[in-house]
Amino acid sequence: MMRIGVLTGGGDCPGLNAVIRAVVRKGVATHGFEFVGYRSGWKGPLEGSTRTLDIGAVRGILPRGGTILGSSRTNPFKIEGGAERITAHLAEQRVDALVVIGGEDTLGVAAKLQERGVGVVGVPKTLDNDLNATDYTFGFDTAVNIAMEAIDRLHTTAESHHRTLVVEVMGRHAGWIALHAGMAGGANVILLPERPFDIEQVAAYVDKRFQTQYSPIVVVAEGATPLAGQMVLKNQDVDAFGHVRLGGIGQWLAEQVESRTGKEARTVVLGHIQRGGTPTAFDRVLATRFGLHAIDAVHDGDFGKMVALRGTDIVRVPLAEATAELKTVPLERYREAEVFFG
Ligand code: F6P
Repeated sequence: MMRIGVLTGGGDCPGLNAVIRAVVRKGVATHGFEFVGYRSGWKGPLEGSTRTLDIGAVRGILPRGGTILGSSRTNPFKIEGGAERITAHLAEQRVDALVVIGGEDTLGVAAKLQERGVGVVGVPKTLDNDLNATDYTFGFDTAVNIAMEAIDRLHTTAESHHRTLVVEVMGRHAGWIALHAGMAGGANVILLPERPFDIEQVAAYVDKRFQTQYSPIVVVAEGATPLAGQMVLKNQDVDAFGHVRLGGIGQWLAEQVESRTGKEARTVVLGHIQRGGTPTAFDRVLATRFGLHAIDAVHDGDFGKMVALRGTDIVRVPLAEATAELKTVPLERYREAEVFFG
């Protein structure tokens, strides 16, 4: 009987449990596999830390956010002898292959381990929707809906107090969450990392909205930057994959807008609220389909692949291709949103 290890790495997002459930349910029922759950991303196989992962363990987890396996941003290639420790634990625990659920960093590690002979199938996970090889990743739709609901609520209070409300959303170096939430929520202006903004222009849009007796909502992606300016960061800490912690642009923007318009501006940072709670129906279905197709790839011995959404089909793409390029917002998509600015 084949024993399959499963892990979730990187930032959590709604839908991870739906993938785990689908992998285990189909793996046991259709392919007769046995599963080992690795705890806390790559930390699990690195330390040999496991938990039971059978049909009983995945009952009732479809609507639950987070991940029953836990997650971390551990990079085994930044740890002396890390990769060797992983292969040793896999052998010791009789694990024949891994299903790895993660974003570009987690899958990047999977691709390197694959080169060392570990059988790996990847499932794309990123709230930011910034993996080029797949049309959508699960977690994104939930984050957009949470941000849209927040914007709807902020509209009414902004109007009552004649204020500007700046909403800072996640997305790292891609503006997908800001673009979709801003369009769905009818933002006055949307600012993305892909297009450095002119603060004078932003203030002019805000002013125009006030003139129509309507209060402006500015949606800003955490990675957005002003023209010819430095990215505004809370601190310069980097994680094990070298990423800086973003955040702080919303506060800066509100101060700048307030001083230019003479009207009060406040900031709301949605932060991890966008990653919490139950996944939308879209994310549950996408995550479930990814899980079903991933375990079929394991059954076929089609390792070194990642499942991906292309149109409405789930396909398999090489892991290396999956992590090669970041998917950012193209200019023409921004142009569509711009029609509604001001
Ligand atoms: O990649 C997902 C994400 O939520 C980004 O949008 C954000 O920049 C980052 O993770 C935050 O990570 P952490 O929770 O580790 O601070």
